[in-house]
Amino acid sequence: MKIERYVLPLLGAVVLAAAGMSVPANAAAEELVKFSVVDGQSIPASLTGKPGDPVKGREVAIHRKKGNCLACHTLPAPDQPYHGEVGPGLNGVASRLSEGEIRLRIVNPKYANPATIMPAFYRTEGLHRVAKKFQGKPMLTAEEVEDVVAYLMTLKE
Ligand code: HEC
Repeated sequence: MKIERYVLPLLGAVVLAAAGMSVPANAAAEELVKFSVVDGQSIPASLTGKPGDPVKGREVAIHRKKGNCLACHTLPAPDQPYHGEVGPGLNGVASRLSEGEIRLRIVNPKYANPATIMPAFYRTEGLHRVAKKFQGKPMLTAEEVEDVVAYLMTLKE
């Protein structure tokens, strides 16, 4: 009896840890698709060849282990507790930038601004302090990037 009392919560913790880990593991299965950057400012074509889903994109954007955009940006998501202000507020971003410009900022903002502190969500080289398990994997899948692009395209002022 005594042992069970210790082992069961431990098992619970292991299962929870495994469930948490499966989030970035989604991104793990994927090879990077090829894309073209136009004038260092824009990736006009969808990475998946299809439009993304803005509802899923909102989930990815606010998810602390996926986009975690709220760490640095405000979004029209009053249900969410913390909104950072290191980057510009993203409400109205679709009135300022084209879809291709928004896609490039998410894939790799260093094309537009080499000094930016914003992470590149769709590249595999040049990432630091990556756990071994996730080395060679982008932070978001191509599909997740397209979903976030579709969500940001709904944020017009
Ligand atoms: C570590 C902080 C950080 C995180 C996390 C972050 N960004 Fe940024 N982002 C910035 C900063 C700073 C800028 C300002 C421009 C620059 O540095 O190039 C920016 C600029 C942008 C821009 C251009 C906005 C404009 O009006 O010019 C977009 C679009 C954007 N980010 C989207 C996102 C999305 C979507 C996510 C989540 C998937 C995200 N960012 C996560 C810091 C961050």
